[in-house]
Amino acid sequence: LNLLNTGLLVDNLPIWHFPVRDDPVTHVKKIQALPMRKDDIFIASFMKCGTHWLSEILYMLTRGSTDYSNKMKESAMLELVDDLPSLELESTLSPRILNSHLYMAHLPKEIVQKKVKMIHLMRNAKDTAVSWYHHIKEMSVLDTFSFDKFLQAYMLDDHIPMSHQLNFLRQFSVFEKTHPDHPIMHIHYEDLKNNPVDVILRLASFIRISASETFCQQVAEACSFENMKRDNERREMPENINGKISKGAFYRKGIIGDWKNCFTIAQSESFDEFIQAQERKGCPYTLKGE
Ligand code: A3P
Repeated sequence: LNLLNTGLLVDNLPIWHFPVRDDPVTHVKKIQALPMRKDDIFIASFMKCGTHWLSEILYMLTRGSTDYSNKMKESAMLELVDDLPSLELESTLSPRILNSHLYMAHLPKEIVQKKVKMIHLMRNAKDTAVSWYHHIKEMSVLDTFSFDKFLQAYMLDDHIPMSHQLNFLRQFSVFEKTHPDHPIMHIHYEDLKNNPVDVILRLASFIRISASETFCQQVAEACSFENMKRDNERREMPENINGKISKGAFYRKGIIGDWKNCFTIAQSESFDEFIQAQERKGCPYTLKGE
């Protein structure tokens, strides 16, 4: 079950996310030292909360065009970029839309100094777990796992890279509490799905871009699940740790509440107990639909 566990720490915290780098500790230290630009926009999210979707929306908003960015969010995900100070990142037109699933403490120190705008994306914990399960199956990382076995592993341990969203949220809240003046916007997947134009208008205001309601409607439409899935078909996919490429891992169903099709009543009850126990351990955010 600990297939993905590197057991590696930086600043006394386990490195979260796939150990895709040959030397994750060195890579995380390089990330921490990475120079930031004042106008960077940073998405902090747990896996499967809709980061591709939000990245594309932000590309469109900041470029003022509903043309697809033609960029996979992986190319701006710090734990996946091989050569961090590479021209690829440095030459990207400002503002850069960066993202990571790493804990805040492992992100560039200059995020704080330069007050880089952070967008914190969240999603219902059960839907996230279901999406994550299908993702790793699709990528053939743990393709022999049943959902039940996956859930047990997911809930089991605080310190394995495939562990749950609430650790990520807790770490984010540590950052928020210790940096009360930092510009942070919280977004729930469910709000983006139910009221995309409202959220996109709020996003535009947060990143200080003047965007009309009509343009935000166009962005919402261009970034609908169906349109993004279609656009994704023509993109080149990066390789995963098994060298396999899977497009289905990123655009699966794109709905709220798919967990009801996957969890049994018993699994749902034990997950609820798990969430409640985790909340008592200081997770301050309320996820929608719990
Ligand atoms: P599902 O597996 O539940 O379908 P991430 O980009 O962080 O990996 O998140 C992937 C999840 O977001 C997948 O969820 C995917 O289908 C969903 N998603 C991607 N684009 C979307 C969109 N435009 N609208 C709604 N959901 C989207």
